[in-house]
Amino acid sequence: MAKRRWSSALTTMRTPSAILMASLWALSTLAPAQQHTKPWVALDYRDPLTVQAGSAIYADECAVCHGRSLEGQSNWRRRDSHGYLPAPPHDETGHTWHHSDQVLFEMVKYGPKVVAGEDYKTRMPAYWGILSDPEILVVLSFIKSSWPERIIKMHDEQANRSQ
Ligand code: HEC
Repeated sequence: MAKRRWSSALTTMRTPSAILMASLWALSTLAPAQQHTKPWVALDYRDPLTVQAGSAIYADECAVCHGRSLEGQSNWRRRDSHGYLPAPPHDETGHTWHHSDQVLFEMVKYGPKVVAGEDYKTRMPAYWGILSDPEILVVLSFIKSSWPERIIKMHDEQANRSQ
């Protein structure tokens, strides 16, 4: 069973860093926290290969809405006439860094409804079935790597400790 999951995780990988992602995946499944309902999550934003792989996934999957330079869409704080929010920036001007690694992972995997409730209207896709867990961690690691040191520090000391 574990073996099948391993090989299907590998075949969904599209970047040269498959081994790296596989090890991230292995870590996330082997960690003791796996017994709990929430997976163990931590972003490897200092690792150049992870960041490079994440940048490629970001360009393919996220840039169309969140912007090539993580700048988001214009007027991202204002809902449009259909009641939807535009995509927020992922740089320091947005609020991505206000959320812990765990919450970010869940928002990307299951969509913002996971925090905002089932009825929430959003254009942010849930990436479950599109990106593997390691790919989600890798793309979020890339986003975190782009933040200035002082924002990374606040993210580690405030968002990640309060979860
Ligand atoms: C079709 C457009 C679209 C795509 C593609 C998209 N997003 Fe989003 N994303 C949004 C919108 C819109 C929101 C705002 C959520 C809301 O409606 O409140 C959002 C919100 C988020 C948030 C929460 C940010 C916060 O400050 O609360 C994260 C994290 C996120 N997106 C990550 C990603 C990642 C990573 C990808 C690529 C794997 C991605 N998104 C692809 C539209 C998109």
